[in-house]
Amino acid sequence: MQYYIKTFGCQMNVYDSQRIADILQNMGYQAAQTPIEADLIIFNTCHIREKAAEKLFSDLGRINLIKEERKQQGKETIIGVVGCVVQAEDEEITKRVPYINFATGPLTYYRLPEILQKIARHKNLCVIDTDFPAESKFDFLPENHSHGVCSFLAVQEGCNNFCTYCIVPYTRGVETSRPVEDVLKEAQRLVKTGTLEINLLGQNVNSYHGEDAYGKERDFAYLLRRLAEIDGLKRLRYTTSYPADVTDDLISCHKEIDILMPYLHLPLQSGSDKILKAMNRRHTAGRYLEIIDKLRTAKPDLGFSSDFIVGFPGETDDDFEQTLNMIDKVGYIQSFSFKYSRRAGTPAAVFPNQIPEKIKTQRLNILQEKLFSMQLTFNKNCIGKIMPVLFESKGRKKEQMFGRTPYMQNIHVQAPIDTLNQILPIKITDATQNSLSGIIVKQ
Ligand code: SAH
Ligand code: SF4
Ligand code: F3S
Repeated sequence: MQYYIKTFGCQMNVYDSQRIADILQNMGYQAAQTPIEADLIIFNTCHIREKAAEKLFSDLGRINLIKEERKQQGKETIIGVVGCVVQAEDEEITKRVPYINFATGPLTYYRLPEILQKIARHKNLCVIDTDFPAESKFDFLPENHSHGVCSFLAVQEGCNNFCTYCIVPYTRGVETSRPVEDVLKEAQRLVKTGTLEINLLGQNVNSYHGEDAYGKERDFAYLLRRLAEIDGLKRLRYTTSYPADVTDDLISCHKEIDILMPYLHLPLQSGSDKILKAMNRRHTAGRYLEIIDKLRTAKPDLGFSSDFIVGFPGETDDDFEQTLNMIDKVGYIQSFSFKYSRRAGTPAAVFPNQIPEKIKTQRLNILQEKLFSMQLTFNKNCIGKIMPVLFESKGRKKEQMFGRTPYMQNIHVQAPIDTLNQILPIKITDATQNSLSGIIVKQ
């Protein structure tokens, strides 16, 4: 039996898809290269913006054609949908895609073995599971398999922040943190099976408050320090952090922990205090700048990235101008920016003064022009420098390897295949907005 998983959305979904693969491999399934070969096709979905959800439904339509094609060859196909769209749409999802066999939310996919058994017994059944279970899915997932030299590790899930635009608290539920020892064990297993870089994940990762072996609650800075002790772990990252939850102790970690990479994703969303308040963000622009200053004092070479939303209800030209000013003040080396998208069930969806699409597009273009040119400047300034690069896969061209710098920049280097999974010093020779090129420095 073969499976194929298509993943939409954030890194947490990438992690969940890997855990689904762990479950399936333990059941004897093997990974298929294309959906046509697969007996089981799973879509792991994202509900964050309307565009993401719409794309899902058009892709699912194509998968149904594959199911039909396989049927003509006498092969059965099970189609399942997992993730945030399922949690948000619940039973409604079967109205749009009646041909699916099961749908589970992001917190219940650990029940996949039972669900597949149920479907095997009752062929025409569509199993829907959108519980918010009392138990933690992590207690039921099998030991993680190796997922390469760079691995994600979820330490916290859910969110209590309720930003007024955001669907995540409704799809991933309230914040929960995994116990310290569970995280350490998973990290140790990853390192033993070849991982050199771990990226810790959580919707609000720095509000982590897991229990240690003695039942004492520990914070994110504690967790980072414990992880940094793991022998053989070379790089540590975390995402996504919430500005108001950056503690002084976490700031010290950036100074003290040498494997903590000098790159931090710290979403600002907007530079206007009026809009931040309407978004229910617990930080002002001023407070955000203070945190950035402290972080820069602790670690002067830290590079920042952020998420931005333009066209939030009530955003005036002046509010937007303040976002542009903040970008100039902070200076980002990378960023992600979006037009505000109304999500049913969130408070902002019914706010007055929704912004016309045309203005959102204009503002996004202006914002991105600024952000992209900053990113290009940062990349160009790297030319001539020597940076440690972790090679994580083969490049598209012959004898080319793909890797990442400490700043998460993509880099392509002419290098032999045996450099895979190694960290090597690379001299940067060229740069575009999205990637660097370089040559190996002879040691
Ligand atoms: N927990 C993270 C990531 C949440 S989703 C955080 O707080 O930063 C990733 C990004 O999507 C958000 O940071 C936000 O910029 C964007 N986003 C979320 N909801 C959105 C919406 N309704 N419309 C447009 N962008 C949205
Ligand atoms: Fe959404 Fe805000 Fe929570 Fe991030 S912090 S997941 S944007 S509610
Ligand atoms: Fe999307 Fe859910 Fe992640 S809505 S961004 S997959 S938490």
